[in-house]
Amino acid sequence: MTTHKIAIFAGDGIGPEVVREGLKVLSAVAELDGFKLETHEYPFCSEHYLKTNELMPESIWDDLRQFDAIFLGAIGDPRVEVGLVERAIIAGIRFKLDLYINLRPIKLYSETQCPLKNKSCADIDMVIVRENTEGIYTALGGIMKKGTADEIAIAESVWTKKGCRRAIKYAFEIARKRNKDKKVTLIDKANAVRAMDIWTRTFEEIGVDYPDITRDHAYIDAACMWMIKNPEWFDVAVTDNMFGDIITDLGAMIQGGMGIAASGNIHPGQVSMFEPIHGSAPKYSGKNVASPIAAIMAASMMLDFLGEASGSARIEQAVTQLLSDGSIPSLDAHSGLKTDQIGDLVARAVTDIAVKA
Ligand code: IPM
Ligand code: MN
Repeated sequence: MTTHKIAIFAGDGIGPEVVREGLKVLSAVAELDGFKLETHEYPFCSEHYLKTNELMPESIWDDLRQFDAIFLGAIGDPRVEVGLVERAIIAGIRFKLDLYINLRPIKLYSETQCPLKNKSCADIDMVIVRENTEGIYTALGGIMKKGTADEIAIAESVWTKKGCRRAIKYAFEIARKRNKDKKVTLIDKANAVRAMDIWTRTFEEIGVDYPDITRDHAYIDAACMWMIKNPEWFDVAVTDNMFGDIITDLGAMIQGGMGIAASGNIHPGQVSMFEPIHGSAPKYSGKNVASPIAAIMAASMMLDFLGEASGSARIEQAVTQLLSDGSIPSLDAHSGLKTDQIGDLVARAVTDIAVKA
């Protein structure tokens, strides 16, 4: 029997509640599909930092490389300096483990969850490939003469040939694998930021190796507009770190909100991290009301990454069914269902799925 070693970072706020439900569904699937999960939970989060002043110990990076995947809930706490723990844990994992792809599927599972008029599930089915280790997230820069009238703040955006190439190549590969419209849209802002021309040129260069895939292009501002007006135009889109961060929140809203949007931080062939894209939602923390579906969908992405295609499909089909038949009426904190009840529903539904995968 295959054993998958999973590192858990339950994190802050609603993190532990949604991770608990994700693990509940994962163990139901493991039993059905005949694999084992060996989990190890790490304590690092804002609460831990407040108690011990420790963010991430230096030894953790080698430790994490011993796992097959990492499952993370949410990080962020208003009592701590803005971004400190997020940068240490979320960005830390992404950068130190070189998880260069942030894969964010945007798929509408039930029309009842879509805020757009006259759009069906077939219209909203795309994958955003967000470059995950470069751009403005590299923290190159700083602040000078802070607090004075002469203050200067600089944040450099970094794009390397290697970074562009590997993100773009990954996008073309999944467009082929998805076999949907066989189209990749490059999203950049090379009209205003000329250095972004590295993306435009690299896209053309790599695209030549994929004659079966159509190449499309949109500037980020226009892409935001098209995603609302004509989401059906997108199949796979590839973009820089910051643009990917922004447009995937927009994408989350058209698929039903932060309560369902999931992501994978991936380095193919190496330990990779899976998380809901929502934050720690402090106001719902400890109330057992947050939607665990985003974390459950992140668990589904993790299974797919681990080679458990059938288990991954089971979860996706169970969620689709529960949303379509109204068993889960909404994906926000006001569904009338408790976090653990939703987890129970999914854990039960996965059993009834006759997997076609
Ligand atoms: C995300 C988050 C993070 C990001 C934050 C928490 C650093 O918004 O995963 O999208 O900006 O990447
Ligand atoms: Mn974000």
